[in-house]
Amino acid sequence: MKMGTPMMAHGSKATVETVTAAQRAQELLQLWRSAESVRVLALPDLSVLAVECETGENGSLMAHLHFERYEGDWNALLSQLFAADIRKVSHNVKDLMRALLENGINCDGFVFDTAIAAYLLDATAGSYDLARLFVSYFNGELPKPVHLEDDAFSLLGDTAVAEAALCSYCSAISALEEELAPKLQEADGLVVASPVYYASANATLTAVLDRLFYSSGFSKTMKVGASVAVARRGGCSATFDQLNKYFTISGMPIASSQYWNSIHGGAPGQAAEDAEGLQTMRTLARNMAFLMRSIALGKAQYGLPEKEKPQFTNFIR
Ligand SMILES: Cc1cc2nc3c(=O)[nH]c(=O)nc-3n(C[C@H](O)[C@H](O)[C@H](O)COP(=O)(O)O)c2cc1C
Repeated sequence: MKMGTPMMAHGSKATVETVTAAQRAQELLQLWRSAESVRVLALPDLSVLAVECETGENGSLMAHLHFERYEGDWNALLSQLFAADIRKVSHNVKDLMRALLENGINCDGFVFDTAIAAYLLDATAGSYDLARLFVSYFNGELPKPVHLEDDAFSLLGDTAVAEAALCSYCSAISALEEELAPKLQEADGLVVASPVYYASANATLTAVLDRLFYSSGFSKTMKVGASVAVARRGGCSATFDQLNKYFTISGMPIASSQYWNSIHGGAPGQAAEDAEGLQTMRTLARNMAFLMRSIALGKAQYGLPEKEKPQFTNFIR
């Protein structure tokens, strides 16, 4: 069922289609498999999804999938959509993966999470919901998220308004990906800093790094990594080692300093009194800048080192 061609949040024209027939879903799955990536937005209970895919010159197809209107096998459709051979971009992928796994649907093929990307580019923003990011990056307002209201897609709700809101939020993911992905790709280095909690890194930061290094599609090879640990007293070097491991599994050279990168403080303002810690940070900044410039020269002169296809064995087989 075709529903029109509204202008989407990022300015391109999207044809909106509600998919009810299993045959049509199979055609779309083929299209999505052949695409570089598709953007997916799902309701928390997975009863309604929007999938956006480019179809050519500045145009895209926004497919709406509704559990209640779909005539085929809903779980089979979700299993195919969330298989590794369809590269997906979404917002807060972890929540989506949890919902899928709770429903017995394996999921793979996520290549970009706009929430993680926004966090990495501005770790102090506090909130990373789509509407707020849309204001910060495009100075534009998304409609009220009526698609998340109870009964939004039932006969009691205004389905057309809910669908329009879902479309806008899904296309906001596209717009943010276009904005954020190049910024992350272009970065020559990554600095990760953590307070020390029980001689290790902050759990929220660790969760973000696990997701960044496990599921983001862009290459980190030869981007310079630097980690910094902040503690009242002990556990800095263990935290430093922990954070550096993300870099050394990803082909990222590590910037070092005159001491293991740590600085001491138990309360706001105290770290500024740690003269040796501050000097360690200054040296680190200079060394990191030198390393990034040297690598840029090396890349221009010799290119990046050749990469082998990964061998994936469990120790011996
Ligand atoms: C749960 C928790 C565990 C901590 N564990 C350590 C520790 O192992 N070693 C240490 O020197 N300080 C420890 N501290 C102190 C913090 O590292 C230090 O106060 C830091 O500046 C806190 O940063 P924050 O205010 O961003 O949480 C701990 C603090 C908390 C809250």
